Order: sequence, then C-alpha cells, then structure tokens
Amino acid sequence: MAIEKSRSGKRSRYEDLLVVRDLRKVFRGSGGHEVVAVDGVSLDVRRGQTWGLIGESGSGKTTTGRMVLGLETASGGSVDFDGTEIVKARPRAVQALRSRMRMVFQDNGSAFNPRRTVGDQIGFGLRRFGLVPDREVHGRVVDLVERVGMEAAHLDRYIHEFSGGQRQRLGIARALITDPDFVVLDEPTAALDVSVQAQVLNLLKDLQAERGLTLLLVTHNLALVEHMCDHAGVLERGRLVESGPVDQLLSDPQTETTQLLLDAVLEPTLAGRP
Ligand SMILES: Nc1ncnc2c1ncn2[C@@H]1O[C@H](COP(=O)(O)OP(=O)(O)OP(=O)(O)O)[C@@H](O)[C@H]1O
Ligand SMILES: [Mg+2]
Repeated sequence: MAIEKSRSGKRSRYEDLLVVRDLRKVFRGSGGHEVVAVDGVSLDVRRGQTWGLIGESGSGKTTTGRMVLGLETASGGSVDFDGTEIVKARPRAVQALRSRMRMVFQDNGSAFNPRRTVGDQIGFGLRRFGLVPDREVHGRVVDLVERVGMEAAHLDRYIHEFSGGQRQRLGIARALITDPDFVVLDEPTAALDVSVQAQVLNLLKDLQAERGLTLLLVTHNLALVEHMCDHAGVLERGRLVESGPVDQLLSDPQTETTQLLLDAVLEPTLAGRP
C-alpha cells in the first residue's frame, strides 16, 4: 500500500483513513436479554472514497456508524481512524478527533434543537473546538451556509421553519463547519422527495470533491449506493454478509440478501422479465 501523509502531518502507513475490525455491539434489554446489534463487522474505507453500508431496518447500520465515530461504546473489536484506535482510546483522545469525524442525520428536524437558531447550532462546532476566533465564527457560518444553497438571512430562524431539503442542507453545513476528514451520512435523504433527494446527493458529491471528504453512507437504498459509493457492504442482523466494489456487488450479488435489496430498487416491469 502507498505511503501517504495524513493531515495531522504524521506519516500514515495506509491509504485507508478508517480500518474497522470485528466490531461488535451487544445491547442489554430491560429484561436482561441481549440484543447483538453488530456482530463482527470489518471494513476499510479509503481516503476520499465513499463506502456504502446497506441493510434492512434493524440490521445494525446506525449502531455501526455511531461506534465508528466513538458516539457509541463498542462491545468489542477495533476502529482505527487515521492511526488512532478509537474503541480503547481514552475519552479525551476521542474528543480530540471529534472535529475531524462528523455525522449527518436522517432527520435534521429532530437533530437540531427547536429552541435555538440554526445559525447558533451550525457555529457551535467552531466554538466548541475553538477552531477560529469568536469574531470569525459568523463569517465562516455564512460562507458555508451559502455554499450549501441557503442564505445568511436563514441563520436567525428555527429548524421548523424549513422544508425537508433545507433541513438536510443545514445539517450538512453543521457537520462540515469543522472541516472534517470523515463524515457518516445516516440515511441523509430518506425523508425527502425524489427530486430533492437528487439535489442533496449532488451537493454532497460536489462538497466531497472540493474538500476531499471520506464518507460512510448508511442506507437501505441500493440506488443511492450505486449513485454515490465506490465500495459497499450488506448488513444482515449485524453481520456483514457481503462486501466489495459497488459495480461488482450490483452486477453479481453473491447473497440472497443483496439480491432482495437489488430487486427492491428495480422497476417492477424490469424485475418481472425473464
Ligand atoms: N440503545 C439501544 N438499546 C437497545 N437496543 C438497541 C439500541 N439501539 C439499537 N438497538 C437495537 O439494535 C439493532 C440495530 O439497530 P440499528 O438502529 O443500528 O439498525 P439500523 O440498521 O440503523 O435500522 P434503521 O434502518 O431502522 O435505522 C436493532 O435490533 C435495535 O432494536
Ligand atoms: Mg438507522
């Protein structure tokens, strides 16, 4: 593998920004029973690429994404982000990476605080990590908000005042304000109409190219994966049953789970053909 220099200036041995090995999450229910939400997941995400994590509802996608960002404690396994192992790291070490690893949520209507202006919340990441002097925060927020297709006048408003597509644009701005290397997109367009979905996805692609972002895209929709991803894997009850380059995964699925997901996005007329 090529030797690359990471942004921190340290020499990184791998082209991969993220290396996940045998990741596991067991939730304990109230009755004492265990739910194995993620069961031995391994994946490598190359710098600048988009990795698609596909699966039905409840298959463990969000839990995996949250563990990768250190937002959920793993029950086992390892997550190496640009040379730092996150699962066993001290909270302070994970904290230091927070500005470099961010998340865009499915439903920004509830991910934003309804009682604070969106401008405040987008700027919060800059203040929290002390990334720029306070007097520069507003200007940075305006620049980015305009870049995602919104206006400076929107910053004094509240999240409920916006449409679904606008909320996702604001959510993207909030994630990108800290200039991260890596972003987990958790069903970023599932709540949107098809035409608005395409606009948001194209915006994400443009921003990725401009900023050299590495992305983990969580979705149940294979059409999204085809449009956005280089590599992808299919989760079934917490296990990664298949993974590989997207063109290979889509043209030659090796498992019934992948085939079923593929059938779900085909036109009924096409799927019905011999
Ligand atoms: N905090 C929790 N406590 C107990 N069980 C949980 C918790 N979070 C998730 N689970 C369980 O873990 C499994 C995986 O959930 P997860 O939310 O990761 O799935 P998902 O693939 O993101 O689903 P969806 O497509 O519906 O968002 C499910 O069985 C879920 O009920
Ligand atoms: Mg989920």
